[in-house]
Formats: sequence, structure tokens, C-alpha cells
Amino acid sequence: MAKPSPTFTCTACGAVHRKWAGRCDACGAWNSIAEEAPLSSGPKALGAKGRTIALSDLATEEAPPPRTSSGMDELDRVLGGGLVPASAILVGGDPGIGKSTLLLQAAASFANRGVKCLYISGEEASAQVRMRAQRLGLGQAPVALGAETNLRDILTTLDAERPGLAIIDSIQTMWLDTVDSAPGSVAQVRASAHELVTFAKRRGVAVILVGHVTKEGQIAGPRVVEHMVDTVLYFEGERGHQFRILRAVKNRFGPADEIGVFEMTGAGLSQVANPSALFLSDRDTPAPGSAVFAGVEGTRPVLTEIQALVAPSPLGTPRRTVVGLDSGRLSTILAVLEARCAIPFAGLDVFLNVAGGMRVNEPAADLAVAAALVSAREDVAIPPDMVLFGEISLSGALRPVTQTESRLKEASKLGFSQAVAPSRSKTGQAEGMRVRQMPDLAAFVGEMFGAG
Ligand code: TYD
Ligand code: MG
Repeated sequence: MAKPSPTFTCTACGAVHRKWAGRCDACGAWNSIAEEAPLSSGPKALGAKGRTIALSDLATEEAPPPRTSSGMDELDRVLGGGLVPASAILVGGDPGIGKSTLLLQAAASFANRGVKCLYISGEEASAQVRMRAQRLGLGQAPVALGAETNLRDILTTLDAERPGLAIIDSIQTMWLDTVDSAPGSVAQVRASAHELVTFAKRRGVAVILVGHVTKEGQIAGPRVVEHMVDTVLYFEGERGHQFRILRAVKNRFGPADEIGVFEMTGAGLSQVANPSALFLSDRDTPAPGSAVFAGVEGTRPVLTEIQALVAPSPLGTPRRTVVGLDSGRLSTILAVLEARCAIPFAGLDVFLNVAGGMRVNEPAADLAVAAALVSAREDVAIPPDMVLFGEISLSGALRPVTQTESRLKEASKLGFSQAVAPSRSKTGQAEGMRVRQMPDLAAFVGEMFGAG
């Protein structure tokens, strides 16, 4: 039999190549391909001697998974209602965003509710973790601490201790002596994650893996870790802002797209029960370029302020700077404003920002973005008691979006009294809200700003 040759794996997308290259054909990432030791080809070729697996039908009644509440509502919501035993969770985020802080607080919270918790740090010494816990006022919580990177030892310990929850901080520091490459490499991260996930399922221990994210927003190491686990959470936020958002991007046990909002304080992360009030709290007096977007994150409506600034550009190619929104979306909206509403932005610098460090991914934000842009350009303020939402199509038409009623209800709760929504929106009973339904962007711009 031929000797197995090493393979080359893209750390960004997980594609396997036969030889090294500077650029991955599959995803186009540069410098992302790493050598991987060959898989041993196993003692036997795959053949006749398998075991027949037990099959069942779809109708078999299955009780919903039991859940353990962490006592932190924001975390429970993102997990889909609490921690599911024997589940594997990946928490990703930029270095320094607060993952270790969040998980230490979660561990303490679970431990105080009687869940046996093990916190294994591969990055900090136990003394460091203990000091942080004491600073956070968690010194008395019955969490068992360990500082180790050797996964074989960790698994043996977990097997002996049988905790309800094990936290591994971080997966990139773990290494297995059976894998012939450095910690943090694709092979190590993948093998370590695989061992931990398998262990979780076999022994009924919930595991939370911490993963650092690369600049491009991917878990460093292959994305395969995301496929292996049941739940993927991202902890995100802008540096310089105290808000942190825990976002479920995948959840086998609950809805994805759910968010939990936290605030980083001197005493750790505190939960934010009403994010809308917080994101709008320091809104300036009504100024041109500001529009309030009635958004929905998962099941929860969240109001955010979209700010735009438009100024004559000294540059040949005017600047387009976006924080908290997709820049491609901005280009599209600018093009629609120009083509369908005759409002050109050529020769103008455009700055767009979501206040408070929030990130908005919903297409429903289009209308509020367009409104902020035109408001800034025409120097006309939008009424301060108005919220907007609606997706803009390339034809300039406004498309209805989901959960109109809960958007309006949240706006009404926060003291807003008028809304602009696409025609055919199902507004339901919007108490105290005057809802204006608009068929397209041109009609809205004409009525609101007398422009276009
Ligand atoms: P950390 O949890 O270590 O981040 P990660 O594990 O994601 O790398 O958080 C580090 C940052 O959080 C650090 O810059 C300081 C800040 N911080 C606070 O502001 N308040 C606190 O109580 C704690 C513990 C950290
Ligand atoms: Mg950390």
C-alpha cells in the first residue's frame, strides 16, 4: 500500500488540497493553507464487517431536552432557554472582547445553582483566573479551576470528575499528543474539538469551547469546529464601546439569530434587559442624518439609531465609511437613491454609523438607512418620534418585513408615536402609533423631504 502523503488544509474554509498554494481555490483566502499530517489509513479497509444500526421512525415521541437555567437571562435566551446537558457549544469572539469574563461569570452562576462546573484555562494560570474571579465578586462560587493544555490529561480529569459543565478556554491552546502538529494548527484544533465533542456526547457532560476569531471574522483554525458543535455563539462588540452582544449563529436546540446584550463594566459583564432604551438613551437632540430603525434580533425587537453624515469630498473617489452595517448594502441603497429617486451622492463623502456599537444585519434596516442618508444630504431632520423599517428592492419598491407588530409595539413602548413601513405590512393593533405605509422609496422621499 502506498504511504499516505500529507494533505494541505485551508484554515479559512477547511478545503483539502493536494499541495501547498498561496491562495485557496475554494474560498479565495490568501496564505491560509497549512500542512496536515496524513490520517493513518486504519488497520482494516472498510468492508463487510459492520454492525447493523438500530433505526427508528419519525413519529416516536421525543421529550424536549431538559434545560438548566444559568440564572443569566441574556445567556439563557441565546442558548434557546438554558443549557442542554451533553451539548457542545462554541463561543467565538475577538481577543479581549470578554469571552473569558463572560464564561467565568456563567460558570459561577451555574455552580451557584448546583451544576458541577469545571473551568479549564489554557491561557491563564489558575492564580490569574482566581484573581479575576475575586475582582468580579465570584470568589465564593464553587467552580473547580484547572490550568492545562494537554487534552489527554483534561479528558482523564473530566472523566473522573464528571461535571455537568466543562469550559475549555480556549480550543486553540489545546493539544493532543496523538496529533503531530503544533497547538493552534488546523489539525490540533480539529482533533481537540472532536475529542471534546465526542466526550460530551458519550459522558453526558456539556462543554463550552472558547475560540478566538481571526480578523476576517472566522474562528481561527478550520470552520469545521463550527460544524462539529451543537451551538455556535459569537461574542461581539466595538472596542471603545461598553456594549457586548452574544449572538447565536447556529443552534441545534433553539432559534438562531437570538441575541443577549451585556455591558462591560469595571465589575465584569452586566446584563442589559432593555437594549432599545440603552441604545437610544444618549440620542442627541433631533439632528439631520439621524433615523431610528425598529429592528428585530431573533425574537426580540431592538431599536437602534442609524446616523449618517454627508459632506463634500475633496477626493476623486469619495469616501464611504460604514460602522455596524454591511458596506455593500450602503452602496446598493446609494445606487437606488440615485437611480430611482434622482438623489445623487457623487462627489460627496458618506459616513454611516449604528449608534452604540450595535451591528445590524437585517435588510429591514434599508429604509432607515436611506432616510438617514437623505436627511443628512438635504439637511432636514426626521421627526424624533418616528421609527422606520422596510427592505428596499433594486426597483426602489419597499418590501414588507417580518414581525411588524412587535417592532411597532416596542416603538410605542419607548414613546415613539409614528412609523413608516412598507405597504402591505401587517401592522395589526398598533396602539398609539400612526403608521404610514409607503409603496416605494421615491414616494417616501418625496413626502418626507420634498426631494427626488
Ligand atoms: P477577557 O474576558 O480576558 O477577553 P477574552 O477572553 O475574550 O480575550 O476580557 C478582557 C477585557 O475585558 C480586558 O480588556 C479588560 C476588560 N474587563 C473589564 O473591563 N472589566 C472587568 O471586570 C474584566 C474582568 C475585564
Ligand atoms: Mg480569554
